[in-house]
Amino acid sequence: MSSSSNIRATVAVIGGTGTLGEQISTALLTEFREQFPTVRVFTRDPSSATAQGLAKKGAEIVVLDIDSLESALAGVDVIANILPTVLPEDVRKKVNDAVVKSGAKVYFLSEFGLDHRLVNFSGYEQPEWEGKKRLAAAVRAQAKGSGTKIISLYTSVFLEILLGPYLGFDLEKNVYSPYGSASQKFSTTAKPDIGRAVGSLALLALDSSTVATVPDEVRIAGSTVSYEEVRDIVSSVKGVPKGEIEVLDLDKLEQSLRDQKGKGSILDYLRLSVGKGWLDHSDNDNELVNPGRKLWKWKTVDDQLRA
Ligand SMILES: NC(=O)c1ccc[n+]([C@@H]2O[C@H](COP(=O)([O-])OP(=O)(O)OC[C@H]3O[C@@H](n4cnc5c(N)ncnc54)[C@H](OP(=O)(O)O)[C@@H]3O)[C@@H](O)[C@H]2O)c1
Repeated sequence: MSSSSNIRATVAVIGGTGTLGEQISTALLTEFREQFPTVRVFTRDPSSATAQGLAKKGAEIVVLDIDSLESALAGVDVIANILPTVLPEDVRKKVNDAVVKSGAKVYFLSEFGLDHRLVNFSGYEQPEWEGKKRLAAAVRAQAKGSGTKIISLYTSVFLEILLGPYLGFDLEKNVYSPYGSASQKFSTTAKPDIGRAVGSLALLALDSSTVATVPDEVRIAGSTVSYEEVRDIVSSVKGVPKGEIEVLDLDKLEQSLRDQKGKGSILDYLRLSVGKGWLDHSDNDNELVNPGRKLWKWKTVDDQLRA
């Protein structure tokens, strides 16, 4: 899969049975199998169908006990944290503490969303995203000088959940409702491609000749499109007339989120971020993780609609 083909390392995927975790575990167990012969998937329920499915692919299934996580991580080189943000912040901090103490060489934080460096919700911050930022800052400070490379991988919205009415894509009615402008670009990445990016970055970070090329914060984009372009792709893939575009008031949405002081819906935050251009990952690290697209072909909106 990569030029770092002489690397053989052990990986742990915490939350590796989840919506995103299953895809990351699968990519590591299949496309990166040679370099990662041991993939430990941590779960509360080893008997679940997903855990069993991953075991059949060769995963070592390990019971997740956050209180004894440090010892369960002994000897692991790369740790990918794919736990959800519904876990209380102190529990997620405990996971970070255990990882740093384990002495792992590479650690992926549970980010996989918007790039905090691009957004600016001044005065109406989104609590989940603020929590991610706080945890990242704390663990980075804690790991300083420890030899653990900590990576935040920003992917924008998952391609698999993008095309629904809740984000203003009503494919059934063929109506598209962006806030602000229909030509504003935003990015989206498919979950299997995020899994591949984790594998590729882990190899780069494990290799002493390439580790310096890996930034602490990495931004990727499977594809970057606008509502107008999605409307046109739907028309060409489904053979239907170009749908209607209904532009909604971005300033009003921002004011409403401001008034709700962090209590607004996360979907509204996402839609505002799209409208503001904060999810446009046109300037990205794709070339680092998948040089010349030689390792894989990024899945596009067009591919998703055809599938
Ligand atoms: N960019 C996007 O569009 C997008 C969308 C969704 C999520 N995300 C991000 O992706 C990351 C992973 O989210 P996800 O939705 O994939 O997670 P998830 O599926 O909700 O959870 C992942 C796994 O964590 C374990 N888990 C769940 N609740 C737990 C608890 N209370 N205690 C211990 N373990 C628990 C479960 O494994 P077991 O049941 O096997 O123990 C679950 O399969 C998060 O950082 C999230 O913010 C991004």
